[in-house]
Amino acid sequence: MFSTTLLLQALLLVPVWGHYYVAVNGNDSGSGSATAPFRTFERAQAAARRSTKGMNSDLYVYVGPGTYYLNEPLKFTSKDSGQNGHRVIWQAQDMTKGANISGGVPITNWKASSVRKGIYEAQAPAFTTRHFYADQAHAQRARAQVQRSWVKETATGLQVVNDSAKYILTMSGLEHAEFHAHNSFTSRYNPVTGASNNTIVMAQPAWNNNLIGYDTFNNPYVDHGLYVENALSLLTDPNEWYLDPASHTMYYMPPSGLDPNDMYLVLAKLETLLLVGGTYDQPVHDLTFRGFNYMHTTWNYMSTDVGYVDQQTGGYIGINKTYTNFDSSRPFWWQVPGSIQVSAARNILFQNGSIVALMGGFGIGNDPNAHSTGVGLGASDVEISGMLLHQTGANAITIGGIQANAHHPSDPRMLNQNTRVLENIFTDLAYTIDSAVPIFASYAKDTYIVHNDVVNVPYSGICYGYGWGSNDAGGSPEYQLRGLYNYQPVYNTPTTMQGGRISANLIYNVGTRHSDDGGIYTLSASPNTTLDDNYIKSTQGFGYYLDEGSSFYYVNNSVLDTSSEWLHRNEQPTYTTGNNTIANCASNFASSDSHNQYNDTIVNSAQWTSYQTMSPKQKSVVYLAGVPPDQRGRRPYSIDQGPF
Ligand SMILES: *[C@@H]1O[C@H](CO)[C@@H](O)[C@H](O)[C@H]1NC(C)=O
Ligand SMILES: *[C@@H]1O[C@H](CO)[C@@H](O)[C@H](O)[C@H]1NC(C)=O
Ligand SMILES: *[C@@H]1O[C@H](CO)[C@@H](O)[C@H](O)[C@H]1NC(C)=O
Ligand SMILES: *[C@@H]1O[C@H](CO)[C@@H](O)[C@H](O)[C@H]1NC(C)=O
Ligand SMILES: *[C@@H]1O[C@H](CO)[C@@H](O)[C@H](O)[C@H]1NC(C)=O
Ligand SMILES: *[C@@H]1O[C@H](CO)[C@@H](O)[C@H](O)[C@H]1NC(C)=O
Ligand SMILES: *[C@@H]1O[C@H](CO)[C@@H](O)[C@H](O)[C@H]1NC(C)=O
Ligand SMILES: *[C@@H]1O[C@H](CO)[C@@H](O)[C@H](O)[C@H]1NC(C)=O
Ligand SMILES: *[C@@H]1O[C@H](CO)[C@@H](O)[C@H](O)[C@H]1NC(C)=O
Ligand SMILES: *[C@@H]1O[C@H](CO)[C@@H](O)[C@H](O)[C@H]1NC(C)=O
Repeated sequence: MFSTTLLLQALLLVPVWGHYYVAVNGNDSGSGSATAPFRTFERAQAAARRSTKGMNSDLYVYVGPGTYYLNEPLKFTSKDSGQNGHRVIWQAQDMTKGANISGGVPITNWKASSVRKGIYEAQAPAFTTRHFYADQAHAQRARAQVQRSWVKETATGLQVVNDSAKYILTMSGLEHAEFHAHNSFTSRYNPVTGASNNTIVMAQPAWNNNLIGYDTFNNPYVDHGLYVENALSLLTDPNEWYLDPASHTMYYMPPSGLDPNDMYLVLAKLETLLLVGGTYDQPVHDLTFRGFNYMHTTWNYMSTDVGYVDQQTGGYIGINKTYTNFDSSRPFWWQVPGSIQVSAARNILFQNGSIVALMGGFGIGNDPNAHSTGVGLGASDVEISGMLLHQTGANAITIGGIQANAHHPSDPRMLNQNTRVLENIFTDLAYTIDSAVPIFASYAKDTYIVHNDVVNVPYSGICYGYGWGSNDAGGSPEYQLRGLYNYQPVYNTPTTMQGGRISANLIYNVGTRHSDDGGIYTLSASPNTTLDDNYIKSTQGFGYYLDEGSSFYYVNNSVLDTSSEWLHRNEQPTYTTGNNTIANCASNFASSDSHNQYNDTIVNSAQWTSYQTMSPKQKSVVYLAGVPPDQRGRRPYSIDQGPF
């Protein structure tokens, strides 16, 4: 007698066309059916590739619950594309649980260490890393604060001028230590090479380059703290860690009362998890990733003698070269790579799930230096929606590049366009580079950032635009004065930036650890770009901050509740900031700035004092901002959006 269950199982051993399964207890020798799932993404990918020939409906790869620890990044090329207008959909089999993709290695078998009371140690595998995650949050590299007055900048490093810093000169493992300067809008790292003549000697060219330009290492506009990091003797506080580079012994001080053997402790091994990258001739297309949690990456380049010479929102001096003129470096800044990279690609969707306990976030069409495929830019119709993005080390999403091919593509296929960032929650992020932001969109066309929550973040909420006006048609008189055009052309055509829409976002409590920031911060010209219906509340910085070169924006229908100017514009004379139209904005803070010379049009701005006295339109902006009301249950915090 056949039972129907057995019959069904027998049938399911052979995959139904277009449906493959992966499970943590699967086996790559299986058929990939629901009852004989594969073990690895790579095996499923090979099966899916064969099936896309002549496909006439969408093809699904279902990934069962659990955590998939990768040995190498997953690479999707044009061969993995959907065909004939259909998509290849990789999705969590159980969308309520999701599926985890990890680039780390769990560290177990912790024993009390003899180094110091409260420290535990464990053996780690042999690889280098800068990131260790404790219960899905960034653990802190062992560190100690150094008062700026204790050290004096010299050409080779920091001379110790106060006995309080003397211990650093003889600290064991000093050659692996780093200094980290938390400045106004930069977060800079410089590796140490040793000590000599009462001076902590810094790696070059990082030190030279960290001393030129603006908000520099030892001459910040605002001092948010200087730290020495990464030596065992600095491990004195709960949640700090240190990895001995020779013995690969991990040291960790858990929060008081916790046994590390009861915690989920993961050392990050990979720098990227997912590469979606074709070529301009053969882009990758029509792929969906749905319901995944991306976790556990690192980024080691900043440990080299290049350091991390931060400029703004993930742009840094990445070329291994000693610059004598700061502006000569500007056209060649690099970008911090994402853990999930998309370039030379179209119609790629990331829906639901999360990024958590990662270094880089999403890199969408960044410059080639930030893509492991070596092919940057060229991303179109990429969507990131319905996700929770938190516990990153850097920007959660970086859209577009910052070098010449990003703003003036030498090949039209390099254009980045139609990125959509919809209905996501961004919170609690930028732990390594704390000047980083939830969303940074630079040179790209038609970027949509709509109905997102941006809550509890260290610097600006959303940054849109780059280049300080210097790459706009006709150039910038200010950058002419600074000498930039000795190192790059004055362009006579507009950049790729236009048609942006940053709308209906809730931006709450930003600027918690840095300065000179805005709820929404813009740079350079972007015709036909609208910033509207946003609710910007309780930010430490400005509401809307239209910085150098911002022009042809519409700023409409927004409600602002800020502790300083709701609208702030900035530039040296001669001005290229201007020609903006700011309409129907209501603020609790009476004034915008007084830059009337900017030739902006400001109409119908209003002051409000309480929810009760708001107009119905203003109330509706407040209530509707952020993720839609039916999705607010997934917020990890509560926000008062009024008694409406
Ligand atoms: C996977 O399946 C093959 C073939 O049936 C078998 O030899 C192998 O032991 C299985 N591997 C695991 C890990 O179960
Ligand atoms: C993903 O990892 C987290 C942290 O370990 C865990 O709580 C969660 O259950 C995992 N999700 C799945 C689908 O296994
Ligand atoms: C050294 O630093 C400490 C703490 O900041 C301070 O109290 C002391 O006056 C400093 N000593 C000198 C000689 O500057
Ligand atoms: C040691 O440092 C002092 C004070 O900065 C300086 O005057 C002197 O030239 C240095 N000596 C050497 C050998 O570098
Ligand atoms: C930088 O250049 C120096 C000298 O050529 C070289 O020794 C070093 O390895 C380079 N560092 C990086 C990160 O490329
Ligand atoms: C996925 O995200 C969308 C928002 O973009 C949301 O409407 C939908 O309910 C989410 N699905 C699940 C299963 O969470
Ligand atoms: C302006 O942008 C909107 C979308 O934001 C688009 O529909 C419209 O075509 C654009 N207009 C021009 C003139 O580019
Ligand atoms: C913003 O204001 C401009 C100028 O008043 C108007 O043309 C545009 O339609 C408005 N956009 C939105 C989304 O409100
Ligand atoms: C404003 O637009 C006009 C006309 O396009 C242009 O001549 C002027 O330079 C612009 N001013 C600013 C500050 O952008
Ligand atoms: C001022 O702005 C208006 C509207 O955008 C524009 O037509 C005009 O050319 C601008 N004038 C200057 C001097 O920038």
